[in-house]
Amino acid sequence: KTDLTGRHFLKELDFTADEFRGLLALAADLKAAKRAGTETRHLTGRNIALIFEKASTRTRCSFEVAAADQGAATTYIDPSGSHIGKKESARDTARVLGRMFDAIQFRGDAQDTVETLAAHAGVPVYNGLTDDWHPTQMLADVLTMTEHCAEPLERIAFAYLGDARLNMGNSYLVTGALLGMDVRIVAPRAYWPAEAVVARARALAETSGARITLTEDVAEGVAGAGFVATDVWVSMGEPAEVWDERVRDLAPYAVTMDVLRATGNADVKFLHCLPAFHDLGTEVGREVCERHGLTSLEVTDEVFESAHSVVFDEAENRMHTIKAVLVATLA
Ligand code: CP
Ligand code: NVA
Repeated sequence: KTDLTGRHFLKELDFTADEFRGLLALAADLKAAKRAGTETRHLTGRNIALIFEKASTRTRCSFEVAAADQGAATTYIDPSGSHIGKKESARDTARVLGRMFDAIQFRGDAQDTVETLAAHAGVPVYNGLTDDWHPTQMLADVLTMTEHCAEPLERIAFAYLGDARLNMGNSYLVTGALLGMDVRIVAPRAYWPAEAVVARARALAETSGARITLTEDVAEGVAGAGFVATDVWVSMGEPAEVWDERVRDLAPYAVTMDVLRATGNADVKFLHCLPAFHDLGTEVGREVCERHGLTSLEVTDEVFESAHSVVFDEAENRMHTIKAVLVATLA
């Protein structure tokens, strides 16, 4: 079994490809056990702190439900609910919470904060999203891909369209590279991951056999892909003022039915970590859409609601994969 006792999960590359695959296998087992009503509790009596500097629906609920299923208790610390980063440093917070909890989840802006927590907590620390990486999301996304494609990972091609400079773009690139996949980043050059991230991915590809493509050309980028993914064009923590330039720069990279057709793959699946601006159902999305005469932003409602879309499987898999991380590091 996948034993990662005491390990942190701060970014994808904390794990080897074998360890990452082991977590996916464990998540699939845990998912099947929950469905069959045969799940065994491995974390009875454990306590997990959940620090959120930014909002969350899926990540928070995944940690809470996964912990509860496994017999562990959680303490949710909301963006205004603790001294961290205000009256108390991350280092001191880590040393306090490490005395009380068996593990700590952190979501916030700076990768540096989660690294500092890990350096001083003395217990496993998990990155529930920073500006740079979204590693627990990657476990869910790859699990979802394996569920919707019979091919081994090395034969899966996926394309990520949109803003690739931040957590989702970085994480997709290095995860695809780590696992030997065919990964395409499709975006204007200014929105590609930083050169250091690309260099890391290329180095990984040399051993994993991954195929890495960065292109501004949508047709070239999606050709033959089994999965097309995107993310919001303005991430948490970015100012609302950047919406207009993002719409201008990224509108050609919106995922439409034409983009799915351009894969040449009738069975192509659509992924989105969510939340998504696919209709006028949210205040921010509606306001930006109205200004630009659009009815959707990074993905059309037609794609989002189509049979190609596996976004709710992906969202559910956040819970099963986060449970795998908890069991592997704490059981
Ligand atoms: N995908 C994701 O991380 O969702 P939340 O922001 O709701 O946690
Ligand atoms: N890039 C997005 C991901 C949300 C899950 C953000 O950081 O807001």
